[in-house]
Amino acid sequence: MAQTDDNHGHVKDEDRRDILFLATGATAAVGVASAVWPLIDQMNASASVLALSTMQVDVGGLEPGQEMTVSFLKAPVFIRRMTEEDMAAVADEDPSSMPDPDPRNPNAAGDAATLQDRLVDPARDIIVLSGVCTHLGCVPLGDGAGDFNGWFCPCHGSHYDALGRIRQGPAPQNLPVPVASLDGDTLTLG
Ligand code: FES
Repeated sequence: MAQTDDNHGHVKDEDRRDILFLATGATAAVGVASAVWPLIDQMNASASVLALSTMQVDVGGLEPGQEMTVSFLKAPVFIRRMTEEDMAAVADEDPSSMPDPDPRNPNAAGDAATLQDRLVDPARDIIVLSGVCTHLGCVPLGDGAGDFNGWFCPCHGSHYDALGRIRQGPAPQNLPVPVASLDGDTLTLG
């Protein structure tokens, strides 16, 4: 069923069920704060279907600090345009002492969870993340939530930073970056 966010007016194509909402504030995550994503649905999809699936998202409307959440392959994906302050705050952090120093980014050239290797395109300011907590599958709150200016999973208290790296709590891994590419304002997932 098509979904429209009348409060924000950012859903561009009502015939597509994949864009859930675009929001600038905590409203983006309130409705899904305690939801446990049905991972089993994703696992039931055939490999051929998954391999052929791609999705394009227009990120041109995102201002610095804004987020959107889309549904891709039946799972939420967080897309956020980072602010200059966001990027400056994490630019020089050393991930080697973090709980998960792995970039978890199939698009990255490097092997450490640095700013450059957590972005889909290291020359851009768009962070794209799986929206499923790596602990037990809840959907974290966004918009700078938690103690590290990123995402917070209220189910058991996992704090992710502005790059989706796990910094505190029981989640074992960073939020994965999906296979994706950026061409101008078009983000292609898959
Ligand atoms: S599911 Fe996120 S902290 Fe447990």
